[in-house]
Amino acid sequence: MFKIVLFEPEIPPNTGNIIRLCANTGCALHLIEPLGFDLEDKKLRRAGLDYREFAQVKVHPNLAHFRRETGNPRVFAASTRGGTAYHRIDYREGDALLFGPETRGLPTSILDELGPSGTLRIPMRSDSRSLNLSNAAALVLYEALRQVNFPGLE
Ligand SMILES: C[S@@+](CC[C@H](N)C(=O)[O-])C[C@H]1O[C@@H](n2cnc3c(N)ncnc32)[C@H](O)[C@@H]1O
Repeated sequence: MFKIVLFEPEIPPNTGNIIRLCANTGCALHLIEPLGFDLEDKKLRRAGLDYREFAQVKVHPNLAHFRRETGNPRVFAASTRGGTAYHRIDYREGDALLFGPETRGLPTSILDELGPSGTLRIPMRSDSRSLNLSNAAALVLYEALRQVNFPGLE
């Protein structure tokens, strides 16, 4: 299944939505520190998530640690500056889908390392700034799942 990776997420309700997204699709959620909130934050808990949903969340001190711990998966980074439209990537089960922090987006160093074929963008109007983080994660994950025929989902 796919891995969703949130790099330094800042806003609890977005992460709460993505915890639910991962629980509903059977994907693991990986959070890269520093986080802009505590996982015990009331705004996260208020989202009605239960302990099984939180059980799928893993926290890593940095991206290198995530890669080491998960067997160095292919990583596709979502950015408004991504090089490939998200529906044109050939996703494989096990791929990691990486998303940036709400106010800053992903660092240029990560986008440069992955290059145009490893960075994806969701098409928007040319004068738009960006989509909400949890909306972007849902769009990309469901496109990836569609391509592999929604394994284990009905
Ligand atoms: C609110 S956006 C960040 C906005 C930030 N100012 C920027 O320009 O990247 C949070 C994250 O959602 C994802 N995202 C939002 N809109 C996107 C788009 N059109 N294409 C790809 N990813 C997008 C990216 O991972 C982004 O880092």
